[in-house]
Amino acid sequence: MNRARDVRANIPGLTRRDGLALLGTSLLPCLLPWSATANVPETTASLKALASAAGMTFGAAVGQDVFDDEAYRALVIGQAAMVVPDRWLKFDWLRPDEKTFNFTEGDHLLTGASNNGLAMRGHTLIWNDWPPEWLKKAPSSKLPYLLDQHIETVMTHYAGKLQSWDVVNEPFVAWGSDPGGYRPGPWYSAMGPDYIFKAFKRAGLSDPNTKLVLNEAWTERSDVYGLAVRKSLLRIIDEIKDRGLRIDAVGLQGHLDPSQPYDDAGFADFLHQLAERGVAIYITEFDINEAPFDGSVAERDRQSAARVASFLKHALSVKAVSTLICWGLTDRYSWYREPSVLKAFKATRLPRPLPYDDGLQPKPMRDAIAQALAERHI
Ligand code: XIL
Repeated sequence: MNRARDVRANIPGLTRRDGLALLGTSLLPCLLPWSATANVPETTASLKALASAAGMTFGAAVGQDVFDDEAYRALVIGQAAMVVPDRWLKFDWLRPDEKTFNFTEGDHLLTGASNNGLAMRGHTLIWNDWPPEWLKKAPSSKLPYLLDQHIETVMTHYAGKLQSWDVVNEPFVAWGSDPGGYRPGPWYSAMGPDYIFKAFKRAGLSDPNTKLVLNEAWTERSDVYGLAVRKSLLRIIDEIKDRGLRIDAVGLQGHLDPSQPYDDAGFADFLHQLAERGVAIYITEFDINEAPFDGSVAERDRQSAARVASFLKHALSVKAVSTLICWGLTDRYSWYREPSVLKAFKATRLPRPLPYDDGLQPKPMRDAIAQALAERHI
């Protein structure tokens, strides 16, 4: 998805430049390694324990809040076996200018995660969305070099330390005018679809010990857009493999949008088609846009949980699905609440997309996830 723009730190009016200036000063104390003792008492089985019993990994995307909010940090440590930074390993964050590689936040998160026994995955090396201005202005002829340089430098920095990397994010966009369905942007303009093969080639050479993932949105919906992206994804996996390149997993974002048509059984069929290609399947950015649901908070939460339950029941029936990562854990810190996202989605009330509420209490969605994991027997 690409509707969020210009959101850097949940601070309205904070520009990219301001954000970077702050990084050198007042934000740094918040980036101390996590306390190894921060843990919540468990009254029910944690999501990570349930996932593990189901042969899966449960994880969560995190940002600055995991450092700033101790209770939230404890929740993440208690529930997740893996974290993924929501922004800190993206090209525009790592590369504010051509010469800089800003690993500060990614490194702090990795230290905190390792100190607490959590794995970390990387999101994302190459994405046509969110290019920094300097990249947009770079001559096309330089982009093949920049792609290799970026992947090699970043993957070497984290070599052997990350469970997986989203090598390419969102290669397709369903409503575009491109005949192959590819998402436009600097990498695609310069190299056409070859940027994808080049990225997987370089990634395979740069870190043989991490899983290489192609991450994509939209496939959960069964309208003409979702079906087109499913087809494109199957085709590109074949093409990557035909070239003898390594691809270990497909990431399906799983931003559920109940306002769009869906067909969970059809989605499971699609997952089987992916699995036949010998790739693992990760659900990488799970949450639900519950804007279409009406009624009280309790009623909307109930509908969200029902939608989540049906989706997961079908998805988790496919053995190749090995990982479930929520894009955050608590509504309080969901990307859906970032000002630009609220605006882009024309939100009329505060979204409640995640398994825990603002007070970090479990919602019915949390029960639905727990139950789907507990009932997985494959
Ligand atoms: C989002 C982050 O969560 C936000 O903080 C940021 O403002 C915009 O990007 N699909 C993706 C993720 O692949 O990288 C996006 O993350 C959410 C949609």
